[in-house]
Amino acid sequence: MQKLIVHGGTKLRGEIELQGSKNSALPILAAAYLCSGKCVLHNCPKLTDIYAASRILNSLGCKCTFSGNTAEIIPSESDYAFISDELMREMRSSIIFLGALLGRHKKCTVSYPGGCELGPRPIDMHLAAFRKMGVEISENFGKVVCNVRKKVHGTKISLAFPSVGATENIMLCAVLAEGETIINNAAREPEIQDLAEFLRRCGAKIKGDGESRIVIEGVEKLGGCEYSVMSDRIACATYLSAVAGAGGEAIIHKACLNCIEPFISLLDQTGCSIYTLDEGIYVRSGLRLKAIESCIRTMPHPGFPTDAQAVFMAALLKSDGTSVFEENIFDCRYRHTDAMKKMGADIKVIGKTAVVQGVDRLYGANVEATDLRGGAAMVIAGLMAEGTTEVSKICYIDRGYEEIEVYLRKLGADIRRE
Ligand code: UD1
Repeated sequence: MQKLIVHGGTKLRGEIELQGSKNSALPILAAAYLCSGKCVLHNCPKLTDIYAASRILNSLGCKCTFSGNTAEIIPSESDYAFISDELMREMRSSIIFLGALLGRHKKCTVSYPGGCELGPRPIDMHLAAFRKMGVEISENFGKVVCNVRKKVHGTKISLAFPSVGATENIMLCAVLAEGETIINNAAREPEIQDLAEFLRRCGAKIKGDGESRIVIEGVEKLGGCEYSVMSDRIACATYLSAVAGAGGEAIIHKACLNCIEPFISLLDQTGCSIYTLDEGIYVRSGLRLKAIESCIRTMPHPGFPTDAQAVFMAALLKSDGTSVFEENIFDCRYRHTDAMKKMGADIKVIGKTAVVQGVDRLYGANVEATDLRGGAAMVIAGLMAEGTTEVSKICYIDRGYEEIEVYLRKLGADIRRE
């Protein structure tokens, strides 16, 4: 079992180039399944979840290979449309392959993704949308069995909540469907735009991505393309939080400021200096951070991202004053707070609210990552603490961060993997 050993107390200083976005690369890999030509994806992060997606593609008859950060996907000719339980479980967002399967096949079966570290993972909105598009679905013994009589068809879908996964799944199903699909109350996350752009390059007709109403006109077939995945805005928020919390200055290259504007505007309120550069962000953190006066509410984009909640909380642990978080997306997203309290943090969690009272000192401790972003937050707390912090169960962290210790060492952190 690997762990990260962090010796805290060092100010960070240096430059890094962000990895490609996991949340963008995963649906794009699923989209490649729809293509009849070869796809070459650059800037694919080297992550366990990405390799799990490539195993799903290979199990479906594609040939997905990696060379560094570039993935090449040769399309499948096979009619095989079943994803095993084991493969579905390897990755939380494996359900994203269902939309792609429905775009190509009349019958397909996947396992129900089940729950995860963040709580239940319902897919009712995904399935309701597919049903409206002409898919007969039965849910038997943890399996989702789908049948399409003729071909999936376009329709008007109004989502009760702007779910990222449901929006992506509907897009994947709709690009090859018959007629027009309109998604109202669609998710507006930048990763949706990245997926749409990839699909457009392959020949799909999509308008309105990045807005609440997406219109997709189905086409006969998609070709392939060469595409570069957007950079990871959550990794960006993570490294910015590390510098903010531990102090120092850094340049994060390849950062898209617009994509994480809600995070940046709060970081700005902590007293950090932030400047935009050409394709990058400079951050400097000097004296004690100021606590955030208004409640930090996680919301769908363009609100404050749920994925940045834990890492920003870590940055504020030693701030001057009290900050209040409200987690509105997932039920179990404060599990990192127990580890932080073990390190001396003052946090009170009541339902979906967490109250963080800044403390003067944090102390190194042995802690276990509870989930991907929570694990990264513990590493940041370790950088801010006196003494040594050992973070175990880092398989969670490796799901979303490409060698987090290498990136942090480039910023001067004293951290190693054991
Ligand atoms: C969510 C985040 C996304 C983040 C990703 C990984 C939001 C809106 N989405 O996307 O930014 O990158 O996690 O951490 O912040 N839900 C249902 N029924 C459904 C689908 C979803 O009730 O069929 C609920 C979920 O339980 C959850 C909420 O909707 O409470 C958000 O879900 P969704 O956006 O679909 O989650 P992800 O796609 O995983």
